[in-house]
Amino acid sequence: MTISKDIRYVGVNDHNLDLFEGQYIVPNGMAYNSYVILDEKIAVMDSVDAHFGEEWLANLAAALEGRKPDYLIVQHMEPDHSANIFRFLEVYPEATVVSSAKAFQMMKNFYGSDLSDRNRVVVGEKSTLELGRHTLTFVTAPMVHWPEVIFTYDSADKVLFSADAFGKFGALDYEDPEGWACEARRYYFGIVGKYGAQVQAVLKKLAGLEVETICPLHGPVLNENLGYYLDLYNTWSSYGVESEGVVINYTSVYGHTKEAAELLAKLLEEKGCPKVAVNDLARCDMPEAVEDTFRYGKVVLATTTYNADIFPFMKTFIEHLTERNWQNKTVGLIENGSWAPTAAKGMKALLESSKNLTFLEPAVKITSALNDESRAQLEQLADALMA
Ligand code: FEO
Repeated sequence: MTISKDIRYVGVNDHNLDLFEGQYIVPNGMAYNSYVILDEKIAVMDSVDAHFGEEWLANLAAALEGRKPDYLIVQHMEPDHSANIFRFLEVYPEATVVSSAKAFQMMKNFYGSDLSDRNRVVVGEKSTLELGRHTLTFVTAPMVHWPEVIFTYDSADKVLFSADAFGKFGALDYEDPEGWACEARRYYFGIVGKYGAQVQAVLKKLAGLEVETICPLHGPVLNENLGYYLDLYNTWSSYGVESEGVVINYTSVYGHTKEAAELLAKLLEEKGCPKVAVNDLARCDMPEAVEDTFRYGKVVLATTTYNADIFPFMKTFIEHLTERNWQNKTVGLIENGSWAPTAAKGMKALLESSKNLTFLEPAVKITSALNDESRAQLEQLADALMA
């Protein structure tokens, strides 16, 4: 794949991975992107996952057409990108590795050497690397997604190499009918969601650069309507509301709390709610529910009292939210309990550290199964959510 006159794609697709980063399902595979800039000097941008070293080196050799690379630029040390650094150096021992000081420390921890005994270049904010026609400028991007991360800007072709940022789940040989945002959002909130402030900081630095193409380490190269992607990243990283609507996340033991969630969804739809998403937290892909819960401004949590606390899947789900700095939402609570309902209190306590939540009071109380009283409370909650 040609990115520009001098830049080629040399990455790989992974259709064998069960869980990305040990926790995210990737039914449409995953891409580990890598690029090569062919100039008077040649720079390779990152390596790929451990299982694809030979395929990557073959892609690279084909793009090099007999030439040898001068630099391997390591933007991110997570093993899905760094696993083949030393395999690369076996094949191209003359090449210089370029990376941040923190990345070289991590290299020693992961692979036993920080390359201080050979050619290496340590770069930081605004460091530059001359290749000939292309001058690369480095932009530090700590915690997007690890502390050592650097982005790389090529002023000649106006290309931003953005490490994990602007990436998505899905291999590049899979055409995603849902478009970019769905799997990019699940990826963003799953992986970088906690670090909104750091993403905001790097977006401010990028605002001064003229960018025509974004080359991330996962997902497609972006070269049209860049404002769309930048706007979404701005909304996501500022914990703003992306879409109007309500998401209802529930757990249910015998179906009564599920019935309440579904009745609430029906009432909201009847009242003209633009979108109602409903997630059964015990059965759905939880990262899908997490992305919905960051996406919409209004959220309902419905669960049962369990061991004088709350049902386990809801507890885990709320931890997924709070550890990612979930904030700025309107929240409705539904609790079910057959003898001593405490779930609403328990959910509120777990959300105590989340900033700027508005709770719709009172919580809906179900005593085992829906009755006229709890149905009326659901009607009131639907009205409050539509207000
Ligand atoms: Fe794609 Fe943070 O590694």
